[in-house]
Amino acid sequence: MNTDDKNHVTANARRQSPNSDNVTARPLGQASRLWGGRFEKSTDAMINDFQASIDFDKRMYREDIEGSTAHAKMLAAQGIISDDDANKICAGLQKIREQIDAGEFEFSVELEDIHMNVEKALTDSIGAAGGRLHTARSRNDQVALDTHLYIRRQVREIQRLIAELQTALVNAAEKNSDVIMPGYTHLQRAQPILLAHHLLAYFSMLQRDFERFNGVYQRADIMPLGAGALAGTTLPIDREFVARELNFNAIYSNSLDAVSDRDYLLEFLAAASILMVHLSRFSEEIILWCSREFSFVELDDAHCTGSSMMPQKKNPDVPELVRGKTGRVIGHLTALLTTVKALPLAYNKDLQEDKEGVFDALDTVKFSLAVFAQIIDGMKIRRNNMRRAVEEDFSNATDLADYLVKKNLPFRQAHEVAGKLVHYCIERGVYLKDLSLTDFKKFSPLFDADIHDAIKPETCVAARNSLGGTSPQQVAAQISAARTIIDTQRKI
Ligand code: ARG
Repeated sequence: MNTDDKNHVTANARRQSPNSDNVTARPLGQASRLWGGRFEKSTDAMINDFQASIDFDKRMYREDIEGSTAHAKMLAAQGIISDDDANKICAGLQKIREQIDAGEFEFSVELEDIHMNVEKALTDSIGAAGGRLHTARSRNDQVALDTHLYIRRQVREIQRLIAELQTALVNAAEKNSDVIMPGYTHLQRAQPILLAHHLLAYFSMLQRDFERFNGVYQRADIMPLGAGALAGTTLPIDREFVARELNFNAIYSNSLDAVSDRDYLLEFLAAASILMVHLSRFSEEIILWCSREFSFVELDDAHCTGSSMMPQKKNPDVPELVRGKTGRVIGHLTALLTTVKALPLAYNKDLQEDKEGVFDALDTVKFSLAVFAQIIDGMKIRRNNMRRAVEEDFSNATDLADYLVKKNLPFRQAHEVAGKLVHYCIERGVYLKDLSLTDFKKFSPLFDADIHDAIKPETCVAARNSLGGTSPQQVAAQISAARTIIDTQRKI
């Protein structure tokens, strides 16, 4: 779940460099470099390590091979290379893909990135035809293509996980549909609500996240290949062919923009950050609810850890970590915005810095969504404690005021009467429900025998039947709408 980078890579011959433990080094020499022609010296080993991206971009190998296959087919269809060469290229690429899938491919840091690792392996395996693959293409449009393909795929994966968490929420809401808890403002008990209503608030937030990722998908669904290094190509390529082959909805209309655009990654990180902020807010609540002070929920033993020193501890590490990891994802957004902000057109190597943050953000988001769904599924609701928190407080004071409003007292006066009654109770150490009708009548002649019923938690909740309110009727409508939404999302 953490990463889709399954590929094993040997570590034996790797030069010493700070954070690379899984890419082998070959001796550096002009001949093995795909751009070595104009150079007299070979690249300094440390410089090469510094600028290589293979450690992290190798996770885009499927997309790189998919993109190259489409490109080769297009070159042949346009008569730029022969059908025979294209067939050799496609078969060779397929073999490389299988090798990498099986963890049998040795990546080389000298070859810098996934693009040149694949191309070199192809040439090694099929000979001269391999050298024709990069015709009418630059790594600048190639990396853009790979990243578009990768993000497009990952966005759908994230959306699937969002829908799973939403399902867990709707299930929990349905299972606990009669549980009443205090709703809070300022973290002070405010009005009684259904727990289901609270859970469904997160459903709605996740729904917006889902839709935001649709936007990210749309912006990733534009085909950059054919931009060349920056200005297009002199060769008669067919960009529409490639777009069709790779199922892109649109094609970048400006080659400079195609190779420099990182908006879709910024949008991805923004959508990921907002999603994480939602999960973080929920985490904070779950952490509070698990505390002895609230005791509203208990997390499954399988989802918690203990303390090495304090034998009694059962810690909500998972929501804590989700809350903690949110900072990292926001950091990646800030980092990429900062990287891009003063970049001149078109490609600059700074743009290589887009990947690590994006990859880490998507791993973090996927992992967080998956564990969160488990937390919700396994969370035990302590309904009696929630109920007590409603009853042993004054969250029904608004209902008291509304009772008088319904008897035609202006709301401001009703508020005043209810406030005085609360004060009266606090002084005596009792709650509104404990007062007698005589007590009530001391504050207003409008009170009748039905007042006790009017301030019961069930009555308070049921009465909030305005559209989107917390009444069982409104919540049932939310649940059924949520189920329909989830069904539609599954079709995406
Ligand atoms: N590894 C590079 C990246 O991720 C690929 C593009 C390199 N292009 C170049 N002209 N150096 O951005």
